[in-house]
Amino acid sequence: MRGWLDKIKSVIIYDADKEFYAKVFPDSVQKKDLLRLRIMTHADLPAVLEIERKNYLFPWEEDIFTDCFKAGYGCWVCEYEKKILGYSLLSMAVGEAHILNISVHPDEQKQGIGRRMLEHLIDVARGKAESVFLEVRPSNIHAIALYEDMGFNEIGVRKGYYPAENGREDAIMLALQLF
Ligand SMILES: CC(C)(COP(=O)(O)OP(=O)(O)OC[C@H]1O[C@@H](n2cnc3c(N)ncnc32)[C@H](O)[C@@H]1OP(=O)(O)O)[C@@H](O)C(=O)NCCC(=O)NCCS
Repeated sequence: MRGWLDKIKSVIIYDADKEFYAKVFPDSVQKKDLLRLRIMTHADLPAVLEIERKNYLFPWEEDIFTDCFKAGYGCWVCEYEKKILGYSLLSMAVGEAHILNISVHPDEQKQGIGRRMLEHLIDVARGKAESVFLEVRPSNIHAIALYEDMGFNEIGVRKGYYPAENGREDAIMLALQLF
């Protein structure tokens, strides 16, 4: 059965048929193949804010997300079976892209969702920007591991950039050169 399916998969543009295959042959398609990235809308904000509050000690409030919509920044959610599992935001200026936020529901982390969203942001920036920048807390070792694995390099430190429980925490600035 598997060999037959693999043969079909190799000739079909599989993206279009993943959902069909997941229904007919549930074991043949992995969860990460069924993730959908789509543009975030106002209606997504309750789910997005719920994840935001679970993930950060100093979460963004709704107004920051709506400001991002108004500014025309790239705002996406990642869904699985219509449930929002994560989101990502990217601002673009002349020659520069800046990742503003990337976040995966705590129960859904470590399944490749963050990497998938990061790859998407990099694809969006490619051809339009020379570099992609982001800031990260030095204590956020999992996020740093992901960024370094994707080719980001440390380019500096922003002193006291983040609020922290005991005052402020520095940010490590990372950059990915696109060309
Ligand atoms: C950072 C974050 C977006 C990563 O998303 P994720 O879906 O868990 O990450 P992935 O499953 O795609 O993992 C990608 C890589 O990240 C690193 N990583 C992620 N979680 C990790 C963990 N718990 N332990 C070790 N490494 C981890 C690994 O390098 C991993 O690669 P591997 O699977 O090949 O080992 C997610 O942990 C998150 O939402 N954190 C809270 C919000 C946040 O801190 N955002 C970043 C702000 S700068």
